[in-house]
Amino acid sequence: MNFKIKTGNLFKLKSECMVVGIYKKSEREKDVELTASAARINEASSEQIYQIVARGDIDGSIGSTLLLYDIRGISAKRVMVVGLGVQKETSVQFFRKAVMAAVRSLVDRNLASADMAILDDVLDEDRASYARQIAEATHQTTYRYWETKSGDKPAMPLIQIGVVVDRKHRDATQKGIDRGLAIANALTYTKTLANLPGNICTPTYLAGRARELTKSHGLKVSVLDEKDMEKLKMGSLLSVSRGSVEPAKLIIMEYRGAGKNKNPVALIGKGLTFDAGGISIKPASAMDEMKYDMCGGASVFGAMIAASEMNLPLNIVGIVPSSENLPDGAANKPGDIVTSMLGKTIEILNTDAEGRLILCDAMTYAKRYKPEVVVDIATLTGACIIALGHHASGLFSNSDELANELLVAGEAVDDRAWRMPVWESYTKQLKSNFADLANIGGRSAGAVTAACFLQEFAKEFSWAHLDVAGTAWSSGSPKGATGRPVPLLVEFLIRRSEAAREAEKS
Ligand code: BES
Ligand code: MN
Ligand code: ZN
Repeated sequence: MNFKIKTGNLFKLKSECMVVGIYKKSEREKDVELTASAARINEASSEQIYQIVARGDIDGSIGSTLLLYDIRGISAKRVMVVGLGVQKETSVQFFRKAVMAAVRSLVDRNLASADMAILDDVLDEDRASYARQIAEATHQTTYRYWETKSGDKPAMPLIQIGVVVDRKHRDATQKGIDRGLAIANALTYTKTLANLPGNICTPTYLAGRARELTKSHGLKVSVLDEKDMEKLKMGSLLSVSRGSVEPAKLIIMEYRGAGKNKNPVALIGKGLTFDAGGISIKPASAMDEMKYDMCGGASVFGAMIAASEMNLPLNIVGIVPSSENLPDGAANKPGDIVTSMLGKTIEILNTDAEGRLILCDAMTYAKRYKPEVVVDIATLTGACIIALGHHASGLFSNSDELANELLVAGEAVDDRAWRMPVWESYTKQLKSNFADLANIGGRSAGAVTAACFLQEFAKEFSWAHLDVAGTAWSSGSPKGATGRPVPLLVEFLIRRSEAAREAEKS
């Protein structure tokens, strides 16, 4: 999608379709209010807009749309009115919904281009983030997966969106659009990678895709194979891949946007390319969705891509431990005990709790980068879906500061997380009679005990864990990767780089 900022006169713009917003007066009243742009067109057309809207075909509720023709006094061929909800209650979330509805309606009508004049009432400090949502939400509505279908991907009719703003807001809007585009690219990459099936997207395939990022995005990429991991004594990670013919890979991607002496942010993503559960095999129903068990890893790819496209002044190391989890003669058996890279022994009471087994060794490996903070992202537990559903990602952390940074970032971009505890009393559920730690903590608080397991490997750094089991993909007829939590991660990185810049100034 092509975005073009337009600062010309609203009336004179030769547009296929001019999109303007209206508000709902209040939740109770039926009345609507016009935004500044809608009011200007209304005036130019001698109140035509108001007369049509007043007939009651659109009430201004978020995402309602109405297409109007033959509006007098302006050059646009059509006007699309889109409901922005109650003005006082406006938020990034609502705005995003409205943009998605408008774009869907434009696409349904096969329009090739449109102009959006929906940023006029936005506060100055919010301008860039709302503009960013125009690009992001447009992506969200127009993304199509086609990689494993035959024939040509159907062309997207909509190819250009103009963003109409006052001249004085050009720079802030451009900044927001540029960021939105970088995030849209990252989301496309992450979703497509995640949607690929397990027979194509193997650990070796992921490693190959990472290597491509050297050329395309200037990342430094290295891949450890099983021999390298044996030398490092990653007994926990290697025990998972032993049950599969696909060799495990530990993928490391480095982005350098800051000086050599600046410690990196480490992002660790679970890259389990197919999780059958191993010997503790999963039930057959919906098992295909376990191809999505690499969504955490895919989000790390996306965050690295966005950071490099935005030239963020940060150092970031992305680590993706990747393996399959299958039943086989050499697979882990319940009761097996393995030794992690950190030296802790682990009793594997359930081979389906494999994510933590590959993540813990990746976390120990991350120490060599002396990270400022470590954030892992994993489709770790079904229990997290029971706790939070598909709305929020579970957030667990040993640092209040880091937890708040992530919560605030998610809130700002409508990719929310919710904090859960990692208290010592939960960690006790992981006691084993035969090893330092068991890999499961019983039926209760499954998402928490999984996080507590990881926390045992995070004693030397600030760490946070995002359980994205409920948020990384949708099931049912809209089955597909969502790209979450790429928006949260990128916002977190942006805010960190802005804070670093501020600190440098003072
Ligand atoms: N990848 C799964 C978690 C998962 C399950 C995510 C369903 C999304 C949907 C993970 O490896 C797993 O199997 N976890 C087990 C842990 C249990 C054995 C303690 C689970 O959640 O059932
Ligand atoms: Mn599993
Ligand atoms: Zn898994």
